[in-house]
Amino acid sequence: MRYRTLGRTAFSVSEVSFGAWAIGGSWGEVQDKDSLAALHKAIDCGVNFIDTADVYGMGRSERLIAQLKRARKEEIVVATKAGRRLPSQTVEGYSRENLTGWIEDSLRNLATDCLDLVQLHCPPTALYYKPEVFGYLDDLVKAGKIRHYGVSVERVEEALKAIEYPNVKTVQIIFNCFRLRPAELFFEQAKKREIGILARVPLASGLLTGKFTATSQFAKDDHRQFNRHGEAFDMGETFSGVDYEVALAAVEELRKIVPAGMTMTQFALRWILMFDAVTCAIPGGKTVAQIADNCGASELPALSEEAMKRVAAVYADRIAPQVHQSW
Ligand SMILES: NC(=O)c1ccc[n+]([C@@H]2O[C@H](COP(=O)([O-])OP(=O)(O)OC[C@H]3O[C@@H](n4cnc5c(N)ncnc54)[C@H](OP(=O)(O)O)[C@@H]3O)[C@@H](O)[C@H]2O)c1
Repeated sequence: MRYRTLGRTAFSVSEVSFGAWAIGGSWGEVQDKDSLAALHKAIDCGVNFIDTADVYGMGRSERLIAQLKRARKEEIVVATKAGRRLPSQTVEGYSRENLTGWIEDSLRNLATDCLDLVQLHCPPTALYYKPEVFGYLDDLVKAGKIRHYGVSVERVEEALKAIEYPNVKTVQIIFNCFRLRPAELFFEQAKKREIGILARVPLASGLLTGKFTATSQFAKDDHRQFNRHGEAFDMGETFSGVDYEVALAAVEELRKIVPAGMTMTQFALRWILMFDAVTCAIPGGKTVAQIADNCGASELPALSEEAMKRVAAVYADRIAPQVHQSW
């Protein structure tokens, strides 16, 4: 496993880290014993950074991570998120009282007295124009409740605005072979400000593993079934916002580019790691086998220029017309 510095936080984190949404819920049924085995496997593979949120199974994901931390001696940095417990997303909801309450709950769930990194969890765009909210976070740092804070954004424009706040140290954004726009302007600006970047949804919700077909079925409580058109939350979070059939055709094109000696999943993750602005990819994983596959991406050699060009061409031909300007 290779490590990269997470912006100005001074944390050195695994370039393939662990996305802990699926082990909380919204991805079909998961058993805690399988999730714990997956978490342990990640640590065995050198992962030292986990991304979670208070709402992933309403504390279930955070509590599993606390259990993992109790069982392991390695240092594990945990990034959590706050804001999605609001019944509806309003700027007013991100009040000092609410933020403090959510953070107290995450402290309890994660069994710690100071959170390593708290990210605002895809708040409304208008929030980025309210400096007072960032002031509440500064106060929580001063009070010793959180070490660092950052944002998880839906749109590139939100990311660009967020990094104007001097104490925003990280940005989490969707970046994968089906979502290239962050690399255009945001990465360059983020590098100038030494912002840590967490590339989320790196496998386009599993599509980029190459395992799905037109007849794949998803459980009723899996967002890949219930949120394909943005019925419950931003549709960009499900399959990266790409139409399922369009994506399957693009996956077949990408499959032809995967060099011998790597799985398609590893290719998709290695592609992300080719961008030096990215600190880490945070693939979600539910099983030991998935984690081993995902972590293997860090050990692989760089992709060729030709491979990078071909991915860009598949994106330009098949994906960009549908989604490029959406986020
Ligand atoms: N708003 C936000 O801030 C936000 C939103 C989304 C995600 N995130 C974060 O980003 C992380 C990653 O995104 P994501 O989980 O949505 O999507 P993802 O990483 O693109 O896809 C994860 C899913 O792909 C499948 N998978 C993973 N590795 C695999 C492998 N090696 N082989 C086959 N299948 C594999 C698993 O599901 P199956 O086995 O069921 O197919 C897994 O749950 C999340 O866990 C979360 O921490 C944050």
